[in-house]
Amino acid sequence: MAFRRLVAAVQALSLARSLAEIQEIVRHAARELTGADGASFVLRDGEQCFYADEDAIAPLWKGRRFPLTACISGWTMLHRQAAMIPDIYADPRIPHDAYRPTFVKSLVMVPVRAADPIGAIGNYWASPHAAGADEIELLQSLANTTAVAIENAQLYAQLEQRVRERTLQLEAANAELEAFAYSVSHDLRAPLRAIDGFSQALQEDAAGRLEGECEAHLQAIRRGVKRMDALIDDLLRLSRISRAEMRRQVFPIGKLAAEVVAALRQRQPERQVDFQLEPGLEAEGDPELVRIVLENLLGNAWKFTARASPARIFFGRQAGVEPAVYCVRDNGAGFEAQYAGRLFAPFQRLHSAAQFPGSGIGLATVQRIVRKHGGRVWAESQPERGASFYFTLSPPA
Ligand SMILES: Nc1ncnc2c1ncn2[C@@H]1O[C@H](COP(=O)(O)OP(=O)(O)OP(=O)(O)O)[C@@H](O)[C@H]1O
Ligand SMILES: [Mg+2]
Repeated sequence: MAFRRLVAAVQALSLARSLAEIQEIVRHAARELTGADGASFVLRDGEQCFYADEDAIAPLWKGRRFPLTACISGWTMLHRQAAMIPDIYADPRIPHDAYRPTFVKSLVMVPVRAADPIGAIGNYWASPHAAGADEIELLQSLANTTAVAIENAQLYAQLEQRVRERTLQLEAANAELEAFAYSVSHDLRAPLRAIDGFSQALQEDAAGRLEGECEAHLQAIRRGVKRMDALIDDLLRLSRISRAEMRRQVFPIGKLAAEVVAALRQRQPERQVDFQLEPGLEAEGDPELVRIVLENLLGNAWKFTARASPARIFFGRQAGVEPAVYCVRDNGAGFEAQYAGRLFAPFQRLHSAAQFPGSGIGLATVQRIVRKHGGRVWAESQPERGASFYFTLSPPA
C-alpha cells in the first residue's frame, strides 16, 4: 500500500514542472506514506530553514523561518542524515518552545538530496511513535525523488526563460527587418518618381528628334521604371501583411473561392476555365487575409492553365484530416517537384515572364499569411501535369 503510494508520488513528481507543484505533491504524499498525523516540506534558504508547506491535523510552522542551527530540519540538512525522535521533549536537538503549541510528540526528518541538502521532509505524530527503518526508508525515497524533481524544475524554468528571451530577440529582429524593408521600399519611391518624371519629360520633349537607338534606350528606361515601381508595390504589400492584425472567425471559404474565380473570369472573359468547388466549405481564420491567399493560389492556377484545354481548377478540402487541409489544384503547366519548396521565397519564379507574367511575390505572401495563422503551405506538381497547392490555417493538432 505504502509502496504503491510512493510509486504514485514518484510518477507525479516526474511530471512536476514547478516548485509549487512539487510542494503540493510532497506534503500529501509524505503524510500518507507513513500514516503520520502531519508532514512538512522544508526548504533550505541560505542559513535558514523555510517551512514551505505542510499537511497536518493541526497547524505546524508553515511560512516560518528558523536558523539552520535552531531546528531539527536544519540539523538534518547540516548533518546530511535522517533524524528519528520518538520523544521530542527528551531530545536536546529540538527547540521545545517551538513545539509546545503543536500536537507533535514524535517525528522523523529526512534530508532532500542527502549529498548536499536543499531541504528536508518531516513526519510528525500526536502520540509517541518510534518510526521503523521501513518508514524512514520510504520517506527517504520520497525525498530523493523530490530532489531530482526540484533540479528538473529548475532546469525547466531556465529553459523556459531562455526560450522566452530568444523569442523576444527574434520578434525584435523580425520587427526591425520588416520596418527596414518597409522604409527602404518606401524611400526608393522618391528617386524612382524622379527618374519616371524626367524620362517621360525627355520622351515628350524630344519626340521625333531622337535617332532610332536613342528612342529605344529611352523606352527601355521607361519599362525598367514601370517594372521597379510594380516590384516596390509588391514589397510594400508583403510587409503590410506581416504587420496586419489577425481577426479569426469561422467563415465560408468556399464562397470566398467562388468570388475570387468570378473576379478572374470578369477580368479575362475570353478564357474558358472549368472551376470545380467542393460545396459547403468553411474555415476558421482571418477572412480578409485568406482572401489574399485564395487570390494568389487561384490566380496562379488561372494563369498557369492558360495553355491547357480544357483548363480545369479545383478547390476543396482533404477528407478526414484535422486540422483542415485545403487544396487548390489545376491541370496547367506545372513544375519540377524538386523546386516545390523554393517557390515560397520572394521573387522566385520557375517560368519566364514572357511565358507567364508575374513578379514572384504571390506565394511568399501566401506563406506569410498561412504562417501568421500557425498553418503550413506546400505544393505538389509535375511539369505539364498541373499543380496542387495545400494549406492549413492552424497549427498541427
Ligand atoms: N499553379 C501553378 N502552376 C505552375 N507553376 C506555378 C503555379 N503556382 C506557382 N507556380 C510557380 O511558382 C512561381 C512563383 O509563384 P508566385 O505566385 O509567387 O509568383 P508569380 O505568380 O510568378 O508572380 P506574382 O504572383 O507575384 O504575380 C511562379 O512563377 C511559377 O513558376
Ligand atoms: Mg502568383
